Amino acid sequence: MIRVVLLGAGNVAFHLAKAFTKSNDIDFIQRYGRNNKNDHLFDKTIPKTDSLNTLAKADIYIIAINDDSISTFSKQLNIDNGLVVHTSGSVPMESINCKANKGVFYPLQTFSIVQKIDYKQIPICLETEIKSDMEKLKHLAKSISNNVYEINSLQREKLHIAAVFANNFSNFMFTISKDICDDNDFSFDILKPLIEETSQKIKEINPKEAQTGPAKRNDKKIIEKHLSQLEGYQKEIYNLMSKSIIKTYNK
Ligand SMILES: NC(=O)c1ccc[n+]([C@@H]2O[C@H](COP(=O)([O-])OP(=O)(O)OC[C@H]3O[C@@H](n4cnc5c(N)ncnc54)[C@H](OP(=O)(O)O)[C@@H]3O)[C@@H](O)[C@H]2O)c1
Repeated sequence: MIRVVLLGAGNVAFHLAKAFTKSNDIDFIQRYGRNNKNDHLFDKTIPKTDSLNTLAKADIYIIAINDDSISTFSKQLNIDNGLVVHTSGSVPMESINCKANKGVFYPLQTFSIVQKIDYKQIPICLETEIKSDMEKLKHLAKSISNNVYEINSLQREKLHIAAVFANNFSNFMFTISKDICDDNDFSFDILKPLIEETSQKIKEINPKEAQTGPAKRNDKKIIEKHLSQLEGYQKEIYNLMSKSIIKTYNK
């Protein structure tokens, strides 16, 4: 069994802890959190420490903390043996700053503590500094997910940009849609079937083929009418998106 220590107590750590607890292939021996803020959310049977001096001996240590802190945090780790990985989409593997072997264990999904997820479906992107560590890391990833990929740092960086467009930006579009609904006294629920269909459709056809709307049709009258009713960043985004769509479809 692979002995795992999980460092961090936020969104990613919470869901990883749940998946590790369920797996029969993993000996989830300890978790670390710098305070007790989220302790009530984690399984009480997993030993917890708030001191980096009392970390257990493990095969794999997973750092699931904020991107900006990974480098300085890992410098404080007194680990010579085993493999230390982080879970970030954009931080280079080399940012891990300790004597142990390095790697990346990036789960490509959006995680919030409050939202249930099925880990088996989540793509996990792996990278290791030393080839022989890859098998170990794959074993760990495959024990919680059916979607495991070997991806280098450059590919992961690009993948993260693609993920920002696919999830973070589209989610912000939903926020704008909801604001418009709220400002005009109708429920955002009315748009949910459309949102559902938008993501269903691209499972069957290329997103480029699935595009519809005034900008795709280059319908300038409607675009101008919409722009005249918008202001601030909503107007800027509408304008930029429309221009980009027109440019893409009217070459
Ligand atoms: N959320 C996602 O959708 C997602 C998806 C894929 C990958 N990731 C990656 O996974 C990592 C964690 O993301 P997250 O969403 O779980 O973040 P999060 O919910 O903000 O949690 C971050 C955790 O790190 C702890 N922490 C931050 N700085 C620390 C330090 N210097 N020393 C010790 N602990 C520290 C925080 O403790 P406090 O609560 O005390 O601040 C918290 O427990 C990031 O690298 C992120 O890029 C996130």
